[in-house]
Amino acid sequence: MSTGPVITLVRGDITDQQVDAIVNAANSSLLGGGGVDGAIHRRGGKAILDDCRRLRAAHYGKGLPTGQAVATTAGELHADHVIHTVGPVYSATEDRSELLASCYRESLRVAGELGARSVAFPAISTGIYGWPMDDGARIAVRTVRASAPASVTDVRFVLFDKAAYGEFEAALAARP
Ligand code: AR6
Repeated sequence: MSTGPVITLVRGDITDQQVDAIVNAANSSLLGGGGVDGAIHRRGGKAILDDCRRLRAAHYGKGLPTGQAVATTAGELHADHVIHTVGPVYSATEDRSELLASCYRESLRVAGELGARSVAFPAISTGIYGWPMDDGARIAVRTVRASAPASVTDVRFVLFDKAAYGEFEAALAARP
């Protein structure tokens, strides 16, 4: 029986992580923004943006759809790849949880294709896109447990603040 990846929580900046792949909470333009996206492009350098522009031109003329994921170089980050995924904007009136789960699932699928064993995730959609942290954490943990390919052995959630860390701790402690 597969035991799934080891899941760890880290408090800090995702751009400091040394892993095979860092996941970016991007937007569909793939051309940068604030939050995690801004930090990754700032510290990773121009090579990431160049790759993003090539991807836009070759495959995503209308932008990367919400819930999908695509990889580029990691430029100057301590990683081999950045996997860009587009989270849903939170809505109080429409359930978009499946799209948020899809971000984690698709990012892990791409990581598996790349042969990445260790993957660092931010709390996708919980910043500028407004997703409540407790629900975002539950979806993240549940989806990673259910869908990580066997080749991905180390999944790290990198949380910016104490409150986010606490919500992920609670989500990990709750048995599925
Ligand atoms: N390391 C780890 N976590 C971080 C970092 C960091 N360096 N910076 C922010 N966070 P967000 P979203 C946390 O806004 O909600 C961009 O403009 C943050 O506290 O980065 O998916 C994109 O271009 C929050 O808990 O992503 C999109 O337009 C979590 O990471 C839009 O924001 C995600 O916050 C995407 O919004």
